[in-house]
Amino acid sequence: MDIRPVALVIPAQATSDGAGVSLSRSLGSQALDALDPFLLLDEFRSDDSADYMGGFPDHPHRGIETVTYMLAGAMGHGDNQGNTGKLRSGDVQWMTAGRGIIHSEMPEQEEGLMWGFQLWVNLSAAQKMREPRYQEIPAADIPSVGLAGGVSVKVIAGAVDGTAGPVTEIDVDPTYLDVAVPPGGEFIHALPAGHNGFCYVFEGDAVIGEGSESVTRGNLVVLGLGEAVRIAGGDNAARVLLIAGRPHDEPIVKYGPFVMNTKEEIMQAIDDYNGGRF
Ligand code: CO
Repeated sequence: MDIRPVALVIPAQATSDGAGVSLSRSLGSQALDALDPFLLLDEFRSDDSADYMGGFPDHPHRGIETVTYMLAGAMGHGDNQGNTGKLRSGDVQWMTAGRGIIHSEMPEQEEGLMWGFQLWVNLSAAQKMREPRYQEIPAADIPSVGLAGGVSVKVIAGAVDGTAGPVTEIDVDPTYLDVAVPPGGEFIHALPAGHNGFCYVFEGDAVIGEGSESVTRGNLVVLGLGEAVRIAGGDNAARVLLIAGRPHDEPIVKYGPFVMNTKEEIMQAIDDYNGGRF
């Protein structure tokens, strides 16, 4: 199979967002503004509650989807349409904000490790003003596929070896996999032609693409075009997010949590938000 090359390696940058939550941001940083259709990837990981207790109080979104994947800890969620939920270790929330929601994402623990990711996925022009929708997936409903060489893959979206992930009917036909590769192991996975994709190493180190150089924890690897991604074990057992999706090839105009196609649509979003129409 034609293996996708490494196009770019981006070290995540320390930053903070919400009410003072410490984050490592890779996508959506100065190093890489966006990788169509993906707009942002944050990792939050701390066992010091001062780094996360502020949480993300009420804030709006329009025109995008936010995807939260918890590895450790508990995060509460509530929005202005009466939806509430709680994410625990291993749970996923795929939220399609569409025309708009105002929500909060707040820690439900006062100590201990809080670890997870938030990904922002852009919506196509045709989907930006759709009704909001949640897909809340408890850890127990995320299949884990064991493969040769000690590789195991949690399938959140997309399919591995005939096992499909529970997140479905998403605009960009996404792949979202949590791949564990031990030293000596290798995972080769075909991605749809034309989909943009990336790997984010969040534990250990892994070799991505045909090369032999290891990528360590906290680095995002943008994949070039080709047929399949190759993730091979490095010196230490690795865990890697593999995320891909169909690009929109549409203009992007961003204003904080509003992401639309034109400046006029951004003005409308601000107006709708200020007018209480979210
Ligand atoms: Co949010």
